[in-house]
Amino acid sequence: MSLLVISPGKDPEAWVKALKEQHPGLNIYVYPEDHDKEEVEFALTWKHPRGIFKNYPNLKVIASMGAGVDHITSDEELPENIKITKVVDDRLEEDMGTFVLSLILAHQRNLLHYRESQLNEKWEPVPYTRNNQIKVGILGIGNLGQRVAHKLLQNDFQVIGFSRNKKEIENVESFAGEDELDEFLEQSNILVNMLPLTPNTEKILDKELFEKLPKGAYLINVARGEHLVEQDLLAKVDDGHLSGAALDVFWEEPIRDEHPFWKHPKIRVTPHIASVTHPKSVVPQIIENYERLQDREPLKNEVKRDIGY
Ligand code: GLV
Repeated sequence: MSLLVISPGKDPEAWVKALKEQHPGLNIYVYPEDHDKEEVEFALTWKHPRGIFKNYPNLKVIASMGAGVDHITSDEELPENIKITKVVDDRLEEDMGTFVLSLILAHQRNLLHYRESQLNEKWEPVPYTRNNQIKVGILGIGNLGQRVAHKLLQNDFQVIGFSRNKKEIENVESFAGEDELDEFLEQSNILVNMLPLTPNTEKILDKELFEKLPKGAYLINVARGEHLVEQDLLAKVDDGHLSGAALDVFWEEPIRDEHPFWKHPKIRVTPHIASVTHPKSVVPQIIENYERLQDREPLKNEVKRDIGY
């Protein structure tokens, strides 16, 4: 049995090195080098070329190199019975937690304003709201979202969470299901989108949703660009309903030249760096699943294919 690494557009070297170091006996192929397709039972991938998995008759598991699996599940030619796994990693959660906290603090303490003032050689103090007066709504409160909630609670913010099913998280009021979405949105002074991308959540961040947020609300998107209707965000920031947004993910990455986000004074753009997978820290769970597959044991961090995450 062999493991196939497929990551066009991203150098797979660090992954191959970590796999070899941590499992010297492993037979690894790196796509598209010459390899026997029948031998491959396990693939480790990030943004594979669409449709290729149907050419692997013995493929059993596709492991995502990251927390998201939409780059796999969106392939319409994905064979039915293949299992998909995602990364669940303490370090990724920590990075996500500190990143979102930094964005929120920077927004709430007006750091962009002061940078602008500084460049204009202006001394311009503005009022600010204290952390405990701000309610942050985490839209999609899974593993990563819970770490974000934890960091925010440690910093005195109020936190509420929205998910498909109710969650018991200490000091976080849980909202679940479509019926409770409006009530959740109406209270979110800052909305942090952490939803998985599925056909149900694509374009969820639209005009209608923004209008349910309190006036002056701020949006943070650290999930996927495809959640956001970009024109609707621009309209709602420009008409003053939203105070601004911090976006780490985009429909097209990098965003094109002349994209209105680049120079927008109220929109902060970062290049998809909220939490970046470190091959060395993630490879042990990949190897563990590779071994579980050989031993016919249940896989860890398996995605429910029917719901897509
Ligand atoms: C990054 O976006 C990931 O899904 O890990």
